[in-house]
Amino acid sequence: MKCSLSSTRKNVVFGRGNPNSKLFVVGEGPGQQEDEQGVAFVGRAGKMLDSAFLSVGIDTNKDCYISNIVKCRPPGNRKPHKNEVSECIPWLEKQIGLIKPKVIVLAGSTAVESYLQVAEPISKIRGKWIIKDDIKYMPIFHPSYLLRNPSKEKGKPKWLTWQDLKKVKEELNLT
Ligand code: URA
Repeated sequence: MKCSLSSTRKNVVFGRGNPNSKLFVVGEGPGQQEDEQGVAFVGRAGKMLDSAFLSVGIDTNKDCYISNIVKCRPPGNRKPHKNEVSECIPWLEKQIGLIKPKVIVLAGSTAVESYLQVAEPISKIRGKWIIKDDIKYMPIFHPSYLLRNPSKEKGKPKWLTWQDLKKVKEELNLT
């Protein structure tokens, strides 16, 4: 057994959405609902993600493919450990290699740190494009953080995420 998360999870959660799209979204790891159903981002955070994307005209089931850094739920929704990330990340690399997205949205600091080895606080790097190997990466706040910060006031996390996603939508129209 390569990773001990397989002994506590119910389902492996590969992802959901349209594998032929130009946009790929990366979260952290499945939560309880995702583990039960075997589908990524179907719980409360997923609903928040869906509505944030829909507010800029992106339908998460049609216009992007969504997956996570780790494919099995960490017990109690803790952050995945370093060894769990390193065992699992080749699957994500395979998914990205097959789908060949032009734009990748990295939701939350675990996604940014694990995939790009950028360890800056998400509040500093969100909203700024990172370009690597012909792919444009957009770091955004994780939707669970938006659930804890529900204000839509200008300058607050939800408003900032809306600005970030507008950039993503614009970029997709160009590609
Ligand atoms: N949070 C994540 O990061 N991913 C999911 O699939 C669900 C919640």
